[in-house]
Amino acid sequence: MLKMYAELAKWWRLVSPPEDYREEAEYFLNLFADVIARPPAALLELGSGGGSNAVHMKTSFASMTLVDLSPDMLEVSREINPECEHIVGDMRSVRLGRVFDAVFVHDAVGYMLTLDELKAAAETAFVHCKPGGIALFVPDHVRETFEPDTDHGGTDGDGRGVRFLEWTIDPDPNDSTFITDYVFALREGDQTVWVEHDRHTQGLFSQVDWLRVLREVGFDASFVIDSFERHVFIALRP
Ligand SMILES: C[S@@+](CC[C@H](N)C(=O)[O-])C[C@H]1O[C@@H](n2cnc3c(N)ncnc32)[C@H](O)[C@@H]1O
Repeated sequence: MLKMYAELAKWWRLVSPPEDYREEAEYFLNLFADVIARPPAALLELGSGGGSNAVHMKTSFASMTLVDLSPDMLEVSREINPECEHIVGDMRSVRLGRVFDAVFVHDAVGYMLTLDELKAAAETAFVHCKPGGIALFVPDHVRETFEPDTDHGGTDGDGRGVRFLEWTIDPDPNDSTFITDYVFALREGDQTVWVEHDRHTQGLFSQVDWLRVLREVGFDASFVIDSFERHVFIALRP
């Protein structure tokens, strides 16, 4: 398990505060408008992490089920989303034995490193989506628009704080992955600041591959570009 989602999970809300997700969550809710208009609607999120989108989306649905590989991240989410169901599971293989009106897969889909893994996650979304339902997939990058990037951030909390550098590169443009290195500077109480490094390898697929995979598992697939210039793949289950 990556450090960020295990021993550093308790810092998640200072790394990526839920308030930062409000604008995009509203955008996703608009895309879910048809199912929300047919209450009671149930939403499943795969790779829900710290529940930062869920906190803004849950009131629009009768129920929200949050699945993530990391028990530590689910614990972080439980603190702000106690009314949601939390389940440890792998989006490539989890089977809950029920269907939902909507399925949401945000940036966690980036951890699918091969087309086979991407297809497995798409299949999971499909089998949990009701006929007439919708799934959204929101990768941070697709092959066509990928750019190397650096970013920084972090906030302070109760007696502690974090600052981080995020450095994204694609060492081999011919494979299906890119790398983000995170350097975290952490401060707690009067301890000296200490530093942690975490390397995340993520999948990078073309929009053509994305659409093909979604169609192969049975969805009608298209995409829109959001205000963060991301491809948001819209998958409708016939
Ligand atoms: C960037 S965080 C997600 C944050 C989330 N968008 C939010 O609103 O807080 C990425 C998450 O993907 C999860 N993840 C990675 N691979 C996964 C997999 N195969 N199945 C389910 N979750 C996975 C990690 O455990 C982590 O919690």
